[in-house]
Amino acid sequence: MSNIERIGGDSLLIDDVHFNYGAGAIFDGLSIDVQPGEFLSIIGPSGCGKTTLLNLLSGFLFPRQGSIKLRGKPIAPEDPHFGYVFQHATLFPWLTTVENVEFGLRMEGNLSPLERREKATRYLQLVGLEGFENYLPRHLSGGMQQRVSLARALVMEPRLLLMDEPFGALDAITRETMNDELLRLWDELGQTVVFITHDIDEAVYLSDRIVVLHRPPNGIFRDLSNDLPRPRSGPTTRTSELFWQYKKELIADIAVVANTTNPNSDDDFDDGPSARLLQEAAL
Ligand SMILES: Nc1ncnc2c1ncn2[C@@H]1O[C@H](COP(=O)(O)OP(=O)(O)OP(=O)(O)O)[C@@H](O)[C@H]1O
Ligand SMILES: [Mg+2]
Repeated sequence: MSNIERIGGDSLLIDDVHFNYGAGAIFDGLSIDVQPGEFLSIIGPSGCGKTTLLNLLSGFLFPRQGSIKLRGKPIAPEDPHFGYVFQHATLFPWLTTVENVEFGLRMEGNLSPLERREKATRYLQLVGLEGFENYLPRHLSGGMQQRVSLARALVMEPRLLLMDEPFGALDAITRETMNDELLRLWDELGQTVVFITHDIDEAVYLSDRIVVLHRPPNGIFRDLSNDLPRPRSGPTTRTSELFWQYKKELIADIAVVANTTNPNSDDDFDDGPSARLLQEAAL
């Protein structure tokens, strides 16, 4: 459909990772084994270390102890082994859509200007933005900007995609549309995905597996294998009994972990998003 070849995904091994910023440990022996092409979601209360984990996976941060291996090899920060999509689009406001998407290719310097433009255009088509190549970011909706961010990450053809609440700033309807778009892209491209979210519905709808993180430094609270059949579609999947069962289990989990006091601090954590989950749990 898009003339884009399947990228495929790498195995990711997080092995006994210890990490701390200062005095208090964030991870004290975290281990997660992610299969090639697996869609893993991570949920947990605010401050439990989700973004820290992604920064460790990207090589922006280093474990004090333990290792992170991609396809059996330790990750190297100088090796562009991942694509990253942030909560906010973080596009260059003075560059057009297609210039934003081709920026990484320009930095890499392997393609001619014509080839770069052609590739960026194909990835924009893939995310449904054909015809918007010459728009500036401020002339796009929030959902469209996030599509550009996705195209910008995908155009580098990473075999690992790291996503930190990429649809958290979008309204519920746009978010559901983006969830379907992401599943379509993942089905077509096949990367390994580590997806952070505060939204239980989103985690259940998208993932093969959901890891609930405890407050630091307790690591994994639950590792849930998601057997909802694929392909998934909103009306069928979101109303199925299994979907509700997973959702109920996860709401209960989050209520437990959000209530646990951080052992590293006298103060409680900033519980903005967790409070939302607790409200949801109370419904
Ligand atoms: N650069 C930093 N220096 C010191 N402490 C930090 C730094 N970044 C994060 N922290 C602390 O580490 C803990 C984990 O932060 P992190 O951002 O990974 O949480 P999170 O799970 O992503 O939270 P949220 O859901 O709010 O995005 C928090 O207590 C945070 O205050
Ligand atoms: Mg975060």
